[in-house]
Amino acid sequence: MAEDSAPPVDQMALATLNDDVSTPFVKAQFSDRVLIRTILSRPDGGAGLAGQTVKVGGWVKTGREQGKGSFAFLELNDGSCPANLQVIVDAAVAPLGQLVQTGTCVHVEGLLKVPPEGTKQRVELRVEKVHHVGPVDPAKYPLPKTRLTLEFLRDFVHFRPRTNTISAVARIRNALAYATHTFFQNHSFLYIHTPIVTTSDCEGAGEMFQVTTLISDAEKVEKELIKNPPPSEADIEAAKALVKEKGEAVAQLKSAKASKGEITASVAELNKAKENLSRLEERSKLKPGIPQKDGKIDYSQDFFARQAFLTVSGQLQVETYACAVSSVYTFGPTFRAEHSHTSRHLAEFWMVEPEIAFADLKDDMNCAEAYVKFLCQWLLDNCIDDMEFMAKNFDKGCIDRLRMVASTSFERISYTEAIKLLEEAVKKDKKFENKVEWGIDLASEHERFLTEVLFKKPVIVHDYPKGIKAFYMRLNDDMKTVAAMDVLVPKVGELIGGSQREERYEVIEKRILEMGLPLEPYEWYLDLRRYGTVKHCGFGLGFERMILFATGIDNIRDVIPFPRYPGRADL
Ligand code: 4AD
Ligand code: MG
Repeated sequence: MAEDSAPPVDQMALATLNDDVSTPFVKAQFSDRVLIRTILSRPDGGAGLAGQTVKVGGWVKTGREQGKGSFAFLELNDGSCPANLQVIVDAAVAPLGQLVQTGTCVHVEGLLKVPPEGTKQRVELRVEKVHHVGPVDPAKYPLPKTRLTLEFLRDFVHFRPRTNTISAVARIRNALAYATHTFFQNHSFLYIHTPIVTTSDCEGAGEMFQVTTLISDAEKVEKELIKNPPPSEADIEAAKALVKEKGEAVAQLKSAKASKGEITASVAELNKAKENLSRLEERSKLKPGIPQKDGKIDYSQDFFARQAFLTVSGQLQVETYACAVSSVYTFGPTFRAEHSHTSRHLAEFWMVEPEIAFADLKDDMNCAEAYVKFLCQWLLDNCIDDMEFMAKNFDKGCIDRLRMVASTSFERISYTEAIKLLEEAVKKDKKFENKVEWGIDLASEHERFLTEVLFKKPVIVHDYPKGIKAFYMRLNDDMKTVAAMDVLVPKVGELIGGSQREERYEVIEKRILEMGLPLEPYEWYLDLRRYGTVKHCGFGLGFERMILFATGIDNIRDVIPFPRYPGRADL
């Protein structure tokens, strides 16, 4: 039940009622069938519902004709749970050949029965009526019932939710989103919707996708000019001469004291000639290509009259709310135009970003740790069947890992301590591809060594060198490090990045300049420090990285419904 982000009250009641084996069966709300989960997820596996007539709908996982074609077994899945309902159809009820093909959609009604002794099902459905069949041609359907690799499935993002793995990921992802809102709502954080289109670069790393209509506008102009060529100099000269002529005609009529009617008619002609001239002059200004001014692109002619981008983080904007309503979070898509082809990076990913006023780095770390633990416990409590599927098929240790993280204190070490530990490891012959020395940005191999090998649990590294971190992080008294923290977890490395924010006006202004960033776009951000400044902190959790960590799936492209990465944006 916990997976539904907004469960209708009746459906919630239904799930609890159905845990009671003796309760009569109820239909699901808002659609004409019973969720397969409400049959199979009961403690009795559905056996207590034998004798009930129900309608179910779903897609055939596997089907086979039996008894010389006199009946068929279908394994039916509707995505409400990992398990399939076994469905039996007699040849007298419907033509079987079409029903048994993998991928076929069926909506059927029948009687739930306890199967004969010795079968693994606790309940099966004997079909009495077939309401709908959405057939597939097995020669053309791209997902045959053989085991398919996740890489192969990336070419069929429109069909892959029909597979066991991608549907389990979808349920786990949904549960983590519900858990996220539950956690922050339980702690009185307000959910703030930050913009997707932005004019400030939060991380200052310049890895932003630009949002512009200049290119499509230029293409439109080019097409229009081909269809309808611009006026020539001679056309414009002729139009000017006509205006002059019509003007003289009006003057003549006026000096000859002509009738009011004659003068009005002549003025109307003059106005028409003027309009024609200004239209031609306007069109003669139409130039193919992107508008330029002083040798640069003229963004004043762009849609927002300035340069705009897709956000890399909602942090800067959500800080305006933290500095007004104190505890807030944003949860939305973020975009990075980095050309990373790794299994941990996407060009579009989702981030959960809380921001807390009257809080320092320690509060930030406490919040991050409590949130990650809450997510782990939530999956254990609400998604155990999907987690068991993951343990069986992808990562034997994933359930134990969730248990460990939910119940173990995270290690907390400073960056300087982390470097010492890595240097000690190098002395003991540990080989890293990237050199270890104070001042480096920790590479994924270092992060994973700390969390997987040295501590074997989540590690929070804090107080990083200022040179490798963003301008908004609070400068420590040593003037060398900033109050930043990263949460590193086994399997993934960096799961969370956060910091205490620099709340001192003079310091942050200096930091922006020091980093070679322009002040002007950050004036509003500086205002938060000029007026009513407050100590505050926050962090960002990479939502897909959390799913990788939970499921043990290797590639981040398989835990987001529609992955975007260099060279690929299907649908
Ligand atoms: O460490 P990052 O860059 O931090 C920020 O963006 C801050 N503004 C967050 C804040 O303080 N409110 O990103 C946060 C997390 C990373 O720890 C990582 O888990 C994830 O976002 N992340 C990515 N996930 C997938 N693909 C990418 N390209 C990612 N880049 C960062
Ligand atoms: Mg980071």
